[in-house]
Amino acid sequence: MSFLSQCSTETIASAAKALADGHLVAFPTETVYGLGADATNPDAIARIYSTKGRPSDHPLIIHIPSIDAMGQWALDIPTYAISLARDFWPGPMTLILNRSGMAKDFVTGNQNSVGLRVPEHPIALALLQQFAALGGKGVAAPSANRFGAVSPTTAQDVAEELSTYLLAGDLILDGGPCNVGVESTIIDCTGAAPRILRPGAITPEMIKESTSLELDESIYTPTIRVSGSLESHYSPKAKVTLDIQALTGQGLIAMAEVETPEGVIRLASPSTIEQYARELYSALRAADSEGLTHVVAISPVGDGLAAAIRDRLKRSAAF
Ligand code: TXA
Ligand code: MG
Repeated sequence: MSFLSQCSTETIASAAKALADGHLVAFPTETVYGLGADATNPDAIARIYSTKGRPSDHPLIIHIPSIDAMGQWALDIPTYAISLARDFWPGPMTLILNRSGMAKDFVTGNQNSVGLRVPEHPIALALLQQFAALGGKGVAAPSANRFGAVSPTTAQDVAEELSTYLLAGDLILDGGPCNVGVESTIIDCTGAAPRILRPGAITPEMIKESTSLELDESIYTPTIRVSGSLESHYSPKAKVTLDIQALTGQGLIAMAEVETPEGVIRLASPSTIEQYARELYSALRAADSEGLTHVVAISPVGDGLAAAIRDRLKRSAAF
């Protein structure tokens, strides 16, 4: 069965209806594709976990159409979290807040907090708005990959990875390749100061500037199960090694100025950090589809998004 669907006003409307009826809808966001379900429907949420093969104590991010829906899902929202939401939503940022009664254990993985995000993608926003018009409160959506695998940045990636697990009535909305390419910055807003749990395109400098606060840099010891914080994650089947010379028959991901040694298969040669982020996951997937057993990635230098890329590279190499 093909679940892929080109986006039109009609398909987005039927996707919103599918969500309301308890089906799964994979949809594009600016970061990566998400696998969405009605965040208030326990059966639909259970299907997200089984489709991904994800442990049920890993909390999901709830996607909402605008900042106005924040107060439905969260309580005691600190002023600095409001600043962040005002400055960076819609955008590649997830806020962890104290949950309201609407955020049930089945979606928060039994945490007393809830992750919220307003994505910056016209299809995602249209879907969320239409779902809200049908009475929907929010769409829980993890990245649309099997647990531990590389996040998908195209609808075809989602179809290849998840089609065998999807059921009649489920949908994959095709919105083309994702613009950012790595997952949202996750910021814990349950303490006195913001704390970054997962780096992304919203950088520490942007957070400091928005909140006029120093970040809480204390080491994050997850009693919370943050799958993106597991040491090994984002892994292709090929073995990933960082910052060494690539050998004949191996794949190479590196900035354009790095030359390709003889016999090495170049998987990406981005000329900017933004392009590196955008192409990273498709390059890792290409290694597998080309049957490579080894990939060498040369870490990009710098702060901000480069740090987010290094974080993902380190985890993809951790096997
Ligand atoms: O960019 C993104 O954030 C994408 C798109 C689809 O929005 N979503 C995404 O979801 O990356 P996922 O489930 O693959 O990663 C979300 C991370 C997980 O590691 C989860 O544990 C963490 O967010 N998370 C969610 N709720 C949390 C909470 N209440 N406390 C701590 N971590 C939480
Ligand atoms: Mg994920």
